[in-house]
Amino acid sequence: MSLLFVNAAFREGSRTKTIAEAYLKKGNKNYKTVDLGNVDVRALNEETLKTYNQSVAEHDFMDKMFDYAKEFRDAEEIVIAAPFWNYSIPAVLHAYLELVCSQGVTFDMAADGTYYSLCKAKKLTYITTAGGYIPAEDHAFGYIKALADVFWQIPEVNYYKAEGLDIVGNDIEKIIAEVIGSMI
Ligand SMILES: Cc1cc2nc3c(=O)[nH]c(=O)nc-3n(C[C@H](O)[C@H](O)[C@H](O)COP(=O)(O)O)c2cc1C
Repeated sequence: MSLLFVNAAFREGSRTKTIAEAYLKKGNKNYKTVDLGNVDVRALNEETLKTYNQSVAEHDFMDKMFDYAKEFRDAEEIVIAAPFWNYSIPAVLHAYLELVCSQGVTFDMAADGTYYSLCKAKKLTYITTAGGYIPAEDHAFGYIKALADVFWQIPEVNYYKAEGLDIVGNDIEKIIAEVIGSMI
């Protein structure tokens, strides 16, 4: 069983990473980490977009830029940890997902315009923490859920969040312990 841990929680002492590690420990599975705090992942630019588009058109995914997508495609389970930043996700996670969402590697489109998945994963877990409270219109998990549903078509998507961690007076340890306790 291959589990891929995509870690965008790279602040020293990160509470998001603490929760994610507790989750991984509970699962007692071996996993591989993509540490987004220490990799050279960049958003597509004028030059790399040409390679991306040409590769997709020719269905030739030998360029290194597709390595993340291949690794993601082959994982049987995925855990993503990311703090809630600017009402969304950290930019490096967005750039990573831009590469993961390579048409022809992790998903493709049928002749009738419907998407189908090329991913193996049957389960994805998204873990976050926020300094304040995440609004109902959640642009972080909402984005991940849209990709998981439409492109990767992962049947089980779980979401764990610890909120209000930067609010003075909140019992941070208790909030984190409650989230960890709720995780299955
Ligand atoms: C760049 C940046 C942007 C942030 N944006 C938000 C935000 O929009 N809403 C919020 O509630 N907290 C925000 N925070 C606070 C973090 O969500 C909060 O401190 C979180 O617990 C950090 O996770 P960590 O302990 O894993 O680093 C932001 C923090 C940083 C550094």
